[in-house]
Amino acid sequence: MIKLKNLSMSYRLQEEQVDVLTAANLTLKERESIAVAGPSGSGKTTLLLLLAGLEHPDGGSISLDDTDLSNLSPDELADWRRDRMGIVFQSFHLVASLTALDNVALPLEIAGAADAEARARGMLKSVGLGHRQHHYPSQLSGGEQQRVAIARALVHAPSLVLADEPTGNLDKRTGEKVSDMLFNLHAEAGATLVLATHDEAMARRCDRILHLDDGQLIEKSGDAVFSG
Ligand SMILES: Nc1ncnc2c1ncn2[C@@H]1O[C@H](COP(=O)(O)OP(=O)(O)OP(=O)(O)O)[C@@H](O)[C@H]1O
Ligand SMILES: [Mg+2]
Repeated sequence: MIKLKNLSMSYRLQEEQVDVLTAANLTLKERESIAVAGPSGSGKTTLLLLLAGLEHPDGGSISLDDTDLSNLSPDELADWRRDRMGIVFQSFHLVASLTALDNVALPLEIAGAADAEARARGMLKSVGLGHRQHHYPSQLSGGEQQRVAIARALVHAPSLVLADEPTGNLDKRTGEKVSDMLFNLHAEAGATLVLATHDEAMARRCDRILHLDDGQLIEKSGDAVFSG
């Protein structure tokens, strides 16, 4: 279970302070899927970075299965991320010096899996990139890079998947395929899904839709978010 309590977060530039989250509250049950919607700049990416422990809140707390994230050491946090979390960043964060295959194999290699390469190859095939294994990120289209990032996030069957606009750069058909993969993992492996998305079809497949506005998370129906 993930619990956000009165979470607040601001970015500080020299003169200016950007208040992104003011009092965000959320309880996310195991195996639940939620979509985080909200206009550009409302704080969706910030929220995911906080959940991943990659940014730190100014106030409030985040607890994962009763452990307050702020009590974990950097090493413990890194272990947690490696073993249980799959993250798809909005800007992919692929390793430029590694091929598509090696990018996908990376989480498995870090975890010491013996069959890393074979599993990574299978995962790349399932995102439709079996023929691009040996390309480097700069030799892939934006949508292909996105699919490599998704393959990398899912390859170790994480129990929590954080995905930032995972279908943002994809055409409708590929987007649906990627969406199916995320929801299959959710259904089969019981992964908890947190998706920041503007994609209506994807958001409506989630158990709940939370709308981020004015620094707060408010549960809304799909119709309230997407019509009008
Ligand atoms: N490192 C940073 N330093 C200062 N301000 C930042 C930083 N990162 C984000 N911001 C600001 O914080 C606000 C929230 O950004 P965030 O990236 O979380 O929005 P978002 O909802 O993900 O938007 P989008 O839909 O465009 O991806 C924005 O106004 C942004 O300009
Ligand atoms: Mg964003």
